[in-house]
Amino acid sequence: MLLVKDLRDSYIEFFKSKQHRHIHSSSLVPKDDPTLLFTTAGMVQFKPMFAGTIPLEYTRATSIQKCLRTSDLENVGRTKRHCTFFEMLGNFSFGDYFKKEAIEYAWEYSTVVLRLPKDRIWVSVFENDDEAFNIWNKTVGVPAERIVRLGKADNFWGPAGDSGACGPCSELYIDKGPQLGCGKPDCKPGCDCERYMEYWNIVFNQYFQDTDGRQTPLPQTGIDTGMGLERLATIVQDVESIFQTNELKQLVDFVCRELNVKYEGNNIPAVNAMVEHARSLTFAMTDGAYPSNEGRGYVLRRILRRALRFGRMLGMKEPFVYRMVDEVVAIYGSYYPEIVSSAKNVKNVLEGEERRFLETLEKGIDRLDEIFAALSKNGSGKISGHDAFLLYDTYGFPAEMTSEMAMEKGFSVDMEEFSAEMEKQRERGKQSWKGADNAFESAMTELAKIGSGTVFTGYAETETAATVAALSDGRQVIDALKEGMKGYVVLDKTAFYAESGGQSGDTGEIVFGDGAVFVVEDTKKSSKTFVHHGYVKKGTIRKNEPVSARIDIVRRSLIKGNHSATHLLQAALRQVLGDHVKQAGSFVDADRLRFDFSHFEAMSVEQIDRVEQIVNTKIWENLAVSAKEMKIEEALKTGAMAEFGEKYGEVVRVVSMGEFSREFCGGTHVDNTGKIGVFKILKESSPGAGMRRIEGVTLKGVADRYSSLESIVSALAAEFNAPEKDIVARIKDLAAENKSLQKEIQKAKSANLASNLDTMIAEAEEIAGIKIIAQTFDGASADDLRVLADTVRNKVQSSVVIFASSCDGKASLLVAATRPAVDKGADAGAVIKKIAPIVGGGGGGRKDLAQAGGKDPSKMKDAVAEGVTVFKGIIK
Ligand code: SER
Repeated sequence: MLLVKDLRDSYIEFFKSKQHRHIHSSSLVPKDDPTLLFTTAGMVQFKPMFAGTIPLEYTRATSIQKCLRTSDLENVGRTKRHCTFFEMLGNFSFGDYFKKEAIEYAWEYSTVVLRLPKDRIWVSVFENDDEAFNIWNKTVGVPAERIVRLGKADNFWGPAGDSGACGPCSELYIDKGPQLGCGKPDCKPGCDCERYMEYWNIVFNQYFQDTDGRQTPLPQTGIDTGMGLERLATIVQDVESIFQTNELKQLVDFVCRELNVKYEGNNIPAVNAMVEHARSLTFAMTDGAYPSNEGRGYVLRRILRRALRFGRMLGMKEPFVYRMVDEVVAIYGSYYPEIVSSAKNVKNVLEGEERRFLETLEKGIDRLDEIFAALSKNGSGKISGHDAFLLYDTYGFPAEMTSEMAMEKGFSVDMEEFSAEMEKQRERGKQSWKGADNAFESAMTELAKIGSGTVFTGYAETETAATVAALSDGRQVIDALKEGMKGYVVLDKTAFYAESGGQSGDTGEIVFGDGAVFVVEDTKKSSKTFVHHGYVKKGTIRKNEPVSARIDIVRRSLIKGNHSATHLLQAALRQVLGDHVKQAGSFVDADRLRFDFSHFEAMSVEQIDRVEQIVNTKIWENLAVSAKEMKIEEALKTGAMAEFGEKYGEVVRVVSMGEFSREFCGGTHVDNTGKIGVFKILKESSPGAGMRRIEGVTLKGVADRYSSLESIVSALAAEFNAPEKDIVARIKDLAAENKSLQKEIQKAKSANLASNLDTMIAEAEEIAGIKIIAQTFDGASADDLRVLADTVRNKVQSSVVIFASSCDGKASLLVAATRPAVDKGADAGAVIKKIAPIVGGGGGGRKDLAQAGGKDPSKMKDAVAEGVTVFKGIIK
């Protein structure tokens, strides 16, 4: 039997024999394409090559691409063929071969290499594509009755994302036999039943579709094919479901064994979904996407929560999906080594996510059951958007999950109302990434075309003699820019580094022969064109003029120091924390550096210190830094670190620092680590789940930090009148002194109040043998009043106390009565109830003690006077 891994090998070998270059899968998180959350097809990494916006290094390629699609999420597990993650086998032509060869290759691979029975293969073509029909029929020899013409919905593909290449397509189907069919006489490809399974899609790329949906012919035609590896495996292994193919089956067996369930009946969809989702999550998280509340993170959260819901049906109570990661790694790790090194981190994040959701899952399901019961009672078939939102907000139920669960019971969800509820929540702080300025976008696209492939001289030079290739004022491409104008300059070659790989763009000057000067404030890349952003400081600058492009040397050298430090930092982090540490993003400019990496918990102070020490030791070892271009396969063999989500060409640049660090990197670096000077970590934090961030400084950043600390220290020294070394001791002394002064004040206050007590008691009115001690105070707290009242009650056996005080802008009242007074009818609670409203408050209490607060201390005298009156009324 052909195993899945044999299919991978045979496909690549076949197309290599047809002069295709084998290109590695790009990341599941597409780089440079904000319109796509995930890589959805093999062609995604080749989009610029189809669009003709970059020069071609090769015109034929083949790949096995990691893909993730969630459009059919609710079907995954329930059907025999749906996945979110899958591997797509593909062959591509960029202006090279077209329909004839593409069709012939597909036929040859299917029937000669895989030996699929010719009479069970059906094909479809786009409704009016006679050319494709004739190639299949006349050149290949597929009988006309097995060629189906289908409309746009089935046989027109693309673009991936908002814009890109697209065109009519032709698909290959395998007839799985009448036993799986619907039995209708006209059943054929395109029918919804399971009999004819599509396994290969050949897209004839002819058009470019822009973001408005307009299609224009591409400068060159192309071929983009895609064949789902899992589906192909069901055919060659002669099984019904992708979950029975040899690799996925291993995961199915793992789940059944560990959860002790049989693969039968209702368990089948649940086990399938868990298997599929664990695989998706492992791959996507390895590529740097983590569960979160928005964007791709939310997609992952939905997938995981769906898996947990199915897990619950299988009796799973504890986190489990994370335990499947090692099994996924065991199966796929040899072909995708990146999942091996990330496994530890992926497991940690998953386990935490699972635990958190399992805490609310039961409660959410109970709530949902209540909703179902209510719906059945009132005969409504729809869960309101409000309820769905509540489930989402309180129990973390993604709306799609609620909807799927509702569907199982024959209900639906008012998704429109749900979206409206979400929108309300989102309103604040909502930001759209889409650039509003279309003129600017198109001016940049125009510039990119003219200057396609700027030569970068900045690894070796800081100043380059060049010619102006194009100018723009940001609205259109123009021939000249006058003094004072803001604009954009493209040169044929430049020493200016354009922002990429986290390194910020260079600044400097472009000087013209006649003395005109363009100040460069930033440099950015548009495709492969370097665009200098800035303004004309002097004279008028023109197209086609010779210039000298000079970067700001000091700034660049500081950037180099920071960039090289991030490489040492990554190597040091791996040494201290482990091999799962991988760069997830970085930023360096002249002042500081920031490095994000995968790790599951906050670093300890000791770990931070050790990392800093290692980096500094490597700086002071003066390691030689070198950069070398090599083929990607060769580079990977050297163990060089590649970045998450980064897409690399066939030839990559590898930067080495002694034997300590080796990374794929296009940035500029010091030639010797000694030139980084010194490295200091300023902060360690978390930018998101499963990730940590280090912010640090080198060179000038350290000097700046030193200066700012120094000025703080001198200000402290002056303020506390102490030499630097004594400042801390002096502050400690002052703090202790402050504390004891506070105590003194408190004591004095109490003594002062108490000293007046005897006079108060002596002067107090007496009614029916009860002394009424009524008094107001300034600055006594409620506690002070209580202490004072206790003292009075101890001193005078039969007494009533009515106190009020103003403290911190508020009024406090206290009424207390001794036991003998209460026996004679005194009631503190009744009194306070009457007088609290006078100071704008309320309160109550027992007969012997009642306290209240109020907003208006100016009325406290009235309150006390009224208290006396009320009391007299009670007692009489
Ligand atoms: N892009 C096409 C697809 O995804 C063929 O690769 O089906």
